[in-house]
Amino acid sequence: MKIRTERISDYEEVFQLNYLAFQNREDESRLIERIGLSDQFIPELSLIAEENHHIVGHVVFSKAEVVDEENSHEVIVLAPIAVMPSHQKRGVGSKLIQEGLKRCAELGYEFVFLIGHPTYYPKFGFKPAKKYGFELKQFRVPDEVFMFCDLKEGTATQQIKGELVYPKSFLI
Ligand SMILES: CC(C)(COP(=O)(O)OP(=O)(O)OC[C@H]1O[C@@H](n2cnc3c(N)ncnc32)[C@H](O)[C@@H]1OP(=O)(O)O)[C@@H](O)C(=O)NCCC(=O)NCCS
Repeated sequence: MKIRTERISDYEEVFQLNYLAFQNREDESRLIERIGLSDQFIPELSLIAEENHHIVGHVVFSKAEVVDEENSHEVIVLAPIAVMPSHQKRGVGSKLIQEGLKRCAELGYEFVFLIGHPTYYPKFGFKPAKKYGFELKQFRVPDEVFMFCDLKEGTATQQIKGELVYPKSFLI
């Protein structure tokens, strides 16, 4: 299996993969479309897991902001991530996340936020965000599912706090 950057020609397969992984719902596939057309899209952070020339996993990391009364700080949000049901629990999701976090760090980003399963993401370095002074007001979710990863290992967390604001692609 290899992880590579998504190409425009992957569109149909990515749509179908997300449809199947999210139990025959189109919401996440439509979210991917909106992110792809937005200013928050970063092509090299849209990743494919490919096995025998078939797409078996996909993840998008895109731009969002952390804002306080005075400042706005560009961060990354991870969403959505999907692995083909037939290929789950074989490490595909882990490889996509690890490669994505590596690329985010290389691009100079400090934080990656997500809303997700609280038992799955800690092994990649994600921690509960509220405990570290971050807020989420746009979505009403349990505290433990709102998580972040500090790519500079603690240095940035001390300086930056505020509300995570998802761009409008996420708000429909
Ligand atoms: C969530 C999702 C992306 C995870 O992808 P995945 O490829 O199944 O994840 P991984 O294989 O990396 O890890 C899943 C589990 O398999 C285990 N695992 C990883 N490699 C393994 C291997 N070679 N053999 C056995 N188990 C393995 C992991 O330890 C992990 O265990 P955990 O339940 O204790 O966390 C996938 O399940 C999915 O697409 N779900 C539907 C869509 C969804 O819910 N997306 C996320 C929204 S937050």
